[in-house]
Amino acid sequence: VADDIDLIAEINRLKKEKNAVILAHYYVDAEIQDLADYIGDSLGLSQQAAATEADMIVFCGVHFMGETAKVLSPSKKVVIPDLNAGCSLADSAPADKFAAFKAQYPDHIVISYINCSAEIKALTDIVCTSSNALQIVNSLPPDQKIIFAPDANLGRYVAQKTGREMVLWDGACIVHIDISREKLKQLREEHPDALLIAHPECKEDILMQADFVSSTTGLLTFVKASPHQKFIVATEAGILHKMKQSVPDKKLIPAPGSDNNTCACSECPYMKMNTLEKVYNALLYEQPEIFVPEDIRLKAYKSVARMLELSR
Ligand code: 13P
Ligand code: SF4
Repeated sequence: VADDIDLIAEINRLKKEKNAVILAHYYVDAEIQDLADYIGDSLGLSQQAAATEADMIVFCGVHFMGETAKVLSPSKKVVIPDLNAGCSLADSAPADKFAAFKAQYPDHIVISYINCSAEIKALTDIVCTSSNALQIVNSLPPDQKIIFAPDANLGRYVAQKTGREMVLWDGACIVHIDISREKLKQLREEHPDALLIAHPECKEDILMQADFVSSTTGLLTFVKASPHQKFIVATEAGILHKMKQSVPDKKLIPAPGSDNNTCACSECPYMKMNTLEKVYNALLYEQPEIFVPEDIRLKAYKSVARMLELSR
C-alpha cells in the first residue's frame, strides 16, 4: 500500500463500489470498529451475516466468525483481513478428536459455543453464544443429556446457572483465562466502589465474584443502564472503546492480564491481527476468501440456524 493513500477513504470507496459490508467484533482495533457498518457480539454478528443484502462480507474478527457468515450466507463472498486470525477455543477442539469424544455419549445432544470450526458445528445439534447459552440450555427438556463444547469455563457457568449436569469438552480462551487473580484482587482493593463485570469465558473464581456476567454486548448494555459509575471490565480490552464512547463520564478499568500479556490489560492476539491495511487489501483483492465444503456447511447450517431460531 502506498504511503500517501487515505486508507479509510479508500475502504469506504471500495465498499460502495463492491456493495460490501464490514462487520466487526468489539475486540478489534478502535479504528476498524469506527469504520464498520456493524459492530457486535457473536450473536449480533451472525444475525447480521444472515440478513445482509451486500454482495461481499468483510468480517473483521477471527476465522470462525467469517466461516459462520459463509455457513449462513453461502451465496455471498466472505473475506477476512488475515487468515491467521484464529481462536484458541476453536483450536482446542479438533474435529476428529471431538467426533471420538461425542461417540462416547450416544444419548447426549451437543451444544457448541459458536467459537468453534465449521466441522465442529457440523457435529453439533445447537450452536450457542455467550448471550444465549443459558436460554438455549433452559429450552431443553430437564432430562435431556448434554455435551457442551468447546469452552469449559462457559460450560461450567451454564451448568451452575441452569442446575444441569453437562459433559464438558476441556477448551479455554487464552485471553480470558490469562486474567490475573492476584492483580485483580489488588485492583478490587484499590477500587472497592467498582462493580466487577465479566465475560463467561473467564475462570470460575472470577465469575463467582463478578457482579454481572454476560457477552460483550451484554456487558456494554449493562454499563449503559447501571446507575453505577465505576466498573472493572474482565474481558478483552477492545470492548472498552465502545464502552468509553457510550458512557464517557463513567470510570472503566480493564481487568489486568498476567505478565505474559502484550498490554497491561487483556488483548486477543488474533483479533489484533486485523489492521486497516489488511481490511483495505481484503476489499481490493477480495481475499483471503472463506470457503466451507458444502457437506459440512449444510450440517453446520442446521445447528447455527437452530440457535438463530431460538434467539429471535
Ligand atoms: P461475544 O462477543 O459473543 O461475547 O464473544 C466473545 C469472544 O470471545 C469472541 O471471540
Ligand atoms: Fe478466541 Fe479468546 Fe480471542 Fe475470543 S478472545 S477470539 S475466544 S482467543
